[in-house]
Amino acid sequence: MELKITREIYDQAIKVNGQIEFEQKWSVVGKIFGHIFFLFCRAETWIRREYWRKFVAPKLDKNDLRNIALIMDPRKHPVAKFLYESSNYVTFLKHHAMEWTAIEAIYNERDWLRKEKSLLSIIVTFLLSRVENIVATRNRLRNTKRAMFQEIVHQLESGAAEIRIVSLASGSARSSIEVVAAILRENPQLLDKFRIWFVDADPKAFEFTKALAKEKYPGLEKQFEFWNTKISRKMFDNLSGFLKEIKPAIVEMVGFGDYLPTEKAIQMNRIIYEGLSPGGVLITNNVKDNDERKFLEIVVTWTMLNRSEEEVNEILAEAGFKVRTILNEPCDIQPVYLARKLSNE
Ligand SMILES: C[S@@+](CC[C@H](N)C(=O)[O-])C[C@H]1O[C@@H](n2cnc3c(N)ncnc32)[C@H](O)[C@@H]1O
Repeated sequence: MELKITREIYDQAIKVNGQIEFEQKWSVVGKIFGHIFFLFCRAETWIRREYWRKFVAPKLDKNDLRNIALIMDPRKHPVAKFLYESSNYVTFLKHHAMEWTAIEAIYNERDWLRKEKSLLSIIVTFLLSRVENIVATRNRLRNTKRAMFQEIVHQLESGAAEIRIVSLASGSARSSIEVVAAILRENPQLLDKFRIWFVDADPKAFEFTKALAKEKYPGLEKQFEFWNTKISRKMFDNLSGFLKEIKPAIVEMVGFGDYLPTEKAIQMNRIIYEGLSPGGVLITNNVKDNDERKFLEIVVTWTMLNRSEEEVNEILAEAGFKVRTILNEPCDIQPVYLARKLSNE
């Protein structure tokens, strides 16, 4: 059977939260919302600190002073508490910040909005879902899927016997599953060509991945293998051996590099570079610095290592990648990077 790749398959593959196109900045309201809460948290911190300094601290000894730091924690302030408690969505994002479940909640924001009951919770959830970082995260998934689709088609058209994909810190693995499933729906004869490995520290993510695959294309889950491990410097040798044995054509590592200090990020990317098959590609990302960073860190308690495009490019170049492409998105916060190992390397 001939390979069938159409615009409809592409559109199905890259859809996120029911939408194909990038979400545009809806920034004025989202931004004002973020800034108001941030300013309130800041103002409260300042008032409390001054109050304690002037009236309470002079009477306290050193041990008590240590407790003041805890009291000053902005997350415990009434405004932040009000924000968390007014919407299940906000509470969930805060409790699961940096986890794949929070990312899934961002990808499926419409489902969360439907579940909110009171008018206040609907408004707060709606406004939070318009915060640029949240919109940019969904755009990042669109770009990841675009890159994944393009690379898979490239592999198929060049007659690859097998399409080997490794997803590092895979979480729900929505990007690879939805792209592969969309291609398979019109090309079922290709099922056995796909082999996908998922690596994650959280075994619950794998259960979700299997269920998602069954829902999107029953039988696809049989092409999966899972490695439950915490990626750390200590196991870099194992990771290197794992990749060199598989020799994947595509490695996807999204939502992980933003937490790696530079030296570790270079090492990690070098291991990926060495493990890729010649001509293979790494699809990765790193959040850029932006106006909402402090809001995210203080109110949502989500901290990442922000890097400019130049900084990420340097990391990738240090790791060995000579060819690098950047896929940007309208919020200019969450670019996706495509780094290729040349076919003669
Ligand atoms: C922010 S989520 C990203 C998930 C997915 N790649 C995406 O973009 O939707 C980060 C994922 O990395 C996993 N993770 C965090 N630290 C890890 C580590 N040291 N080794 C392996 N996985 C890790 C978490 O369990 C989580 O699934």
